[in-house]
Amino acid sequence: MAKRKTVADILAMKAAGKKVTILTAYDASMAALLAGCDVDVLLVGDSLGMVVLGYDSTVPVTMEEMIHHAAAVRRGAPGAFVIGDMPFGSYQSSPRDAIINGTRFLKEAGCDAVKLEGGMEVCATVAAMVGAGISVMGHIGLTPQTATQLGGYKVQGRDLESARKMVAAAKGLQQAGAFGLVLECIPDQLARIISDTLSIPTIGIGAGVHCDGQVLVTHDLLGMFEKFIPSFVKTYTSLAPLIKENVTCYVEEVRRGVFPDEAHSFTTQFDFSELVRQK
Ligand code: KIV
Repeated sequence: MAKRKTVADILAMKAAGKKVTILTAYDASMAALLAGCDVDVLLVGDSLGMVVLGYDSTVPVTMEEMIHHAAAVRRGAPGAFVIGDMPFGSYQSSPRDAIINGTRFLKEAGCDAVKLEGGMEVCATVAAMVGAGISVMGHIGLTPQTATQLGGYKVQGRDLESARKMVAAAKGLQQAGAFGLVLECIPDQLARIISDTLSIPTIGIGAGVHCDGQVLVTHDLLGMFEKFIPSFVKTYTSLAPLIKENVTCYVEEVRRGVFPDEAHSFTTQFDFSELVRQK
C-alpha cells in the first residue's frame, strides 16, 4: 500500500508539475474503491447533503452529519489523505468556533485537513486554524454555501472587478496559510492567472485545465446523480440506468421465485423429516 500523503507531499506536487487528483467520498466502500484507483485525495464534501442526504442545497448539512460520513471514509481508506468539508455555520461565527469544529474533523473523524469556502472575509479564520495546527484548503469562485448571495449557481469572475477581487482573495488565503485552493466555476483564463500567481496548488472544478489539480463529485463522474448535472462535469459512465436495470431484474426474479436459485442457497445432508412430522 502507498504511504499516506502529507500536506508537504501535496505542495511538492505543484513544484514538480504533477497534477493533484481529488474525488469526493462519503462512505467506506466507495472510499476504498477510490483509494484503490490511486486518487491523491478524498474529499468528504458537503455535497454530501445533495447527492446522499437528499437536501436541496449544501446549507442544511450539519457537523454531526459531516463527522459521521468523514469517519466512515477514514475507516474505508486508512491510507488516503482525507479532507473534511466545513459545513455552513461551522466556521463563520468566529475563529474560535472554526478551530473547535476543525479540530473535530481531525480528532473524531481522522481527517488530515479541512476545507472551507470564502475569500478575504475568511482569511483571519484560516490563519487562526492553521496556527492551531489544522491544515486548511480554501475554496473561492462559486461557493455553493452562499450561492444565493452570488445570484445562484453561476460562473464567477467574469468581469475585471470580480476577477481582481478573486486574485486578491487567492493571495490572501495563501498568505493566511492555506495549503491549497479550490477554484469553482470561473473562466479558465482567470484560473490560469491565479494558478501562476500562487505557490500552493489550485484545484479546479469548472475552472479549466490550467489548474494544478482537479476535483469532481464522484456521483457526477459515475453518472449516479441524475437530479442536476453541471455542464462542466464529464460523466465517464452512466451507472444510474445500469443500477435501475439490475435492480428491476432482481425485483422481477424474486417475484417469480427464480431468485434465490440452488447456487445461492444452503442445503445440508441432515434429515429434517422429524421436524416436518412434529408440525
Ligand atoms: O462539497 C463538495 O463536494 C465540494 C467540491 C465540489 C469542491 O466542495
